[in-house]
Amino acid sequence: MKKIAIFASGTGSNARKIIEYFTNHQNIKVALVVSNRKTAPVLRMASENGVDTLVITRQSFYHSKSVLDVLDSYRIDAIILAGFLWLIPPYLVKNFPGRILNIHPALLPKYGGKGMYGSHVHQAVKAANEQESGITIHIVDEEYDKGRIIFQKSCPLEPSDSAEAIGKKVLQLEHRYFAPVIEEYLNIENQNNLKDEVI
Ligand code: GRF
Repeated sequence: MKKIAIFASGTGSNARKIIEYFTNHQNIKVALVVSNRKTAPVLRMASENGVDTLVITRQSFYHSKSVLDVLDSYRIDAIILAGFLWLIPPYLVKNFPGRILNIHPALLPKYGGKGMYGSHVHQAVKAANEQESGITIHIVDEEYDKGRIIFQKSCPLEPSDSAEAIGKKVLQLEHRYFAPVIEEYLNIENQNNLKDEVI
């Protein structure tokens, strides 16, 4: 069984889809949800679905190894960032090489980087009169939105689409594709890099 931890800062609609997708899955389990906001709705959703949760602080995340200790105690194989707004510190990238995935609500390399999150992304896409947007799922390295891209899917935009409407179209793609892409990545492409569980 491969175990994943989802990191999320907000609502957690992607986290919910991922938890639902892997419920009763034969070899992938969502073992932990981690958030940097103790009031984030994602925490309640996780608890209601029987998934353990962890709230982190800047101190614990950036200046101690306590998060790593917790991830190790759960024997986490991979980390999924689903709307997680803090930069991943180098020690986590080193401990999970090629095993941290992020979803970005635009077609990287456009509209990525620091400050490009949530509605800011869709407002920038709208302001540039783009004819399409979409999602990017990529490996996380030490910079925002720069790691190797493993999946992209685009959607056409109409000139009349507001930033909010663009966000809705993109979120539909996120909900449809994120979990299956995680499944495929963990089961096939990255198989040899994953820690094997003892039992
Ligand atoms: C999603 O658009 C995700 O791509 C982004 O943050 C949003 C999170 O939404 N990085 P939710 O919390 O999963 O509903």
